[in-house]
Amino acid sequence: MASLELQNIDKSYGALRVIEGLNLAVDDGSLTVFVGPSGCGKSTLLRMIAGLEEITGGDLLIDGRQMNKADPIQRGIAMVFQNYALYPHMTVEQNIGFSLRMAGVDKAEIARNVASAAATLQIEPLLKRKPAQLSGGQRQRVAIGRAIVREPAVFLFDEPLSNLDAELRVSMRVEIAKLHRKIGATMIYVTHDQTEAMTLADKIVVMRSGQIEQAGTPDTLYRDPDNLFVAGFIGSPRMNFLEGTLGSDGTVTLAAGGSFRSGVIAPDQPVKVGIRPEHFTVTSEADGTIGMRIDVIENLGGTRYLYGTLASGETVIVEDRSEESIRNTETITVGFSSKKPLLFGADSKRIRPQMKH
Ligand SMILES: Nc1ncnc2c1ncn2[C@@H]1O[C@H](COP(=O)(O)OP(=O)(O)O)[C@@H](O)[C@H]1O
Ligand SMILES: [Mg+2]
Repeated sequence: MASLELQNIDKSYGALRVIEGLNLAVDDGSLTVFVGPSGCGKSTLLRMIAGLEEITGGDLLIDGRQMNKADPIQRGIAMVFQNYALYPHMTVEQNIGFSLRMAGVDKAEIARNVASAAATLQIEPLLKRKPAQLSGGQRQRVAIGRAIVREPAVFLFDEPLSNLDAELRVSMRVEIAKLHRKIGATMIYVTHDQTEAMTLADKIVVMRSGQIEQAGTPDTLYRDPDNLFVAGFIGSPRMNFLEGTLGSDGTVTLAAGGSFRSGVIAPDQPVKVGIRPEHFTVTSEADGTIGMRIDVIENLGGTRYLYGTLASGETVIVEDRSEESIRNTETITVGFSSKKPLLFGADSKRIRPQMKH
């Protein structure tokens, strides 16, 4: 196990700056997930930590020691990639033991370590097969096995499940969470999928354009985002953003009609009002009641998603668990508790209420 610290890390490819003065502490034994849109610098950051990519500026500390120039082996790090990169001519057993053979570890110990990794990953029956004889999920297990046998202090995963079908992704995600609990190593996991981040992470780091937008527990990012980007990126279906005006007494008036008391004390200004689909209720009794014309109903059984249009022309998604009969094209009224909306200013930053709620 090991802790990591990134201090003011920079990465440039020629004139292109892809990571900008990034600071982050990764706790010993934690599972940290880097999430962000494609091209935001997740892989680059991970590869700098692994020692596969040069660090342009700043410091990488592993257990308090500066490791900018250390080679990957010295760092005690193993990395698992999206494409499994297994050796096709070797059996599963040989693939998993490869790095140990290269390191000159004796045969009996290699056999013990391979057997233990195979047991952890439940791939013992596959040890004599070649990669071509495995499914995608089995190959990814072998790739993880190859990392485990080295007993690294830190595991890095770069979108390891992206090549798997949806169902397998969900089950492998659970396997990785269990693996983390079992071996207790520090893990950093990169994904563009916010659901994967939410379900796996102790701490999520939301990245955009080479910078950290916000880092925190899944719950913190969901309930208390710092800005519009994080609010919109975390959560599915995504948060609704409505145009509104904040008055100096804290009243917010929506372009869609209706108003509510926000508890925010700030100068008059236009705001974006963020309301999650599950924070709407289909009723005329909640405060902030607004009319919504139903465009599409997505029925998932216990839950329905109502896609609708407001008087302002803005479109919204409402999560509904009621048993009301609702039909396409009809206009219904939806409301929300005045405690739920989050406000964002013209600079996209959150305007937080003064009073706790
Ligand atoms: N070897 C390279 N040379 C030049 N630009 C690169 C190189 N590798 C990555 N980049 C650029 O750096 C940015 C971040 O890429 P990457 O870390 O792969 O993003 P992510 O993994 O988040 O999708 C992108 O704009 C990409 O085009
Ligand atoms: Mg990437």
